[in-house]
Amino acid sequence: MSRLIINGLKRLNGSAKVQGSKNSSLPILSAAVLCSGESVIHNCPDLSDVRAAINILRFVGCKVEFSGGTLVCDSSNIRSCHIPDSLMREMRSSILFLGALLARLGEAEMCLPGGCEIGPRPIDLHLKALEELGADIRDDHGVFRCTVPNGLHGGKIALSFPSVGATENAMICASLADGTTIISNAAREPEITDLADFLNSCGANVYGAGDGTIVVDGVSRLHGTSHTIIPDRIAAATWLSCAAATAGRITLHDVIPSHLAAVTALLEDCGCTVYTAGTSMTVNCPRRINAPGVVRTMPYPGFPTDAQAPIMSMAAVSRGTSLFIENIFENRYHHVNGLLRMGANIKVEGRAAVVQGVPLLHGAQVSALDLRGAAALITAALAAEGTTVINGLLYLDRGYESPEEVLSRLGADVKRV
Ligand code: EPZ
Repeated sequence: MSRLIINGLKRLNGSAKVQGSKNSSLPILSAAVLCSGESVIHNCPDLSDVRAAINILRFVGCKVEFSGGTLVCDSSNIRSCHIPDSLMREMRSSILFLGALLARLGEAEMCLPGGCEIGPRPIDLHLKALEELGADIRDDHGVFRCTVPNGLHGGKIALSFPSVGATENAMICASLADGTTIISNAAREPEITDLADFLNSCGANVYGAGDGTIVVDGVSRLHGTSHTIIPDRIAAATWLSCAAATAGRITLHDVIPSHLAAVTALLEDCGCTVYTAGTSMTVNCPRRINAPGVVRTMPYPGFPTDAQAPIMSMAAVSRGTSLFIENIFENRYHHVNGLLRMGANIKVEGRAAVVQGVPLLHGAQVSALDLRGAAALITAALAAEGTTVINGLLYLDRGYESPEEVLSRLGADVKRV
């Protein structure tokens, strides 16, 4: 099991390119199953979750080549509607293959997906949306056997919560349904818009992505395309929190500043200065930032839940007290134990966490229990006096491409052993 060894208290300084978005590449890889042809996907990050999606694509019959950030997927011949448990359990977004296989083959069989333990992570909204499009879904002791007895048809999907995954599953499935689908209370995340752009370049008719209501006019067939994945706004937010925790000054290339508005607004409130020029962003941080105050996670364009953990580590060494309220997931404070071992002053009560900033953290031996929790431990280790050993890199590698290389480029003393 590899570990990260970080010697803290180095001010981050330097520049780095931000990876392609994990949460955009995963739904787009599922959507590639819809295409009767070859798709070329650029700026695809090399992550274990992406490798898991490639394994599923190959299992159902796609030919996939992936090197140097470019993924070529030929989904001309899809031969299996079944995804084995071992592949389903690798990650959360494997559930998006349900909508894709139903649309392409008219049937699908799979168990519940995996994913970070940040809450129960039900799929009721996904299933309800697909049933609205004509799917018949039977839960046979945890295996979902899905068919479309009368074919897929357009429908009215009213999401009770703007679920990112349920919105994506509905968009993917509706693209090949017969008729028009309206998805209301849809998620507005940039990854939703990127998926719509991919689908439309394959010949779909998806309108309104990024708004609360998405309209899909189904077509009978989709062809392959060439698409470039948007930058990963959460990886960018992570590196920014590392800079703010170390009084750093860094420049990130390949960002879309508008995707980070909630995060950069918070950093400016903490006393950082943020300059943007095109797809580059420079952040200059004071010796010790002010506390961010109240941080409520919300659906986009609100403050992103995926940035809550690293930003909490930054708050742990800020001047003042902060209140975090995690409104999206039920149990997303696993990183707090590690931060407490490093000397942070944090009290958790349900979805709320009160963070009293301390002048200095100290190195410790800590373990990550989920993807963004791992990012939080890295942020804290960079701000800590002494050496920190971080275990649980399997979680980190799900969402960050060569994080130790990015951090070393930014001046951190980090190595993977
Ligand atoms: C996506 O997860 C992201 N994952 C998550 O990123 C992100 O935190 C989340 O959206 C919110 O932005 C990917 O894109 C692969 P949701 P998803 O459906 O689709 C409840 C990361 O660290 N819900 O918007 O699973 C759910 O339990 C990951 O990169 C239902 O109740 O998120 C949660 O409380 C973590 N029923 C809330 O909605 C459902 O059917 C938001 O979930 C679906 C969701």
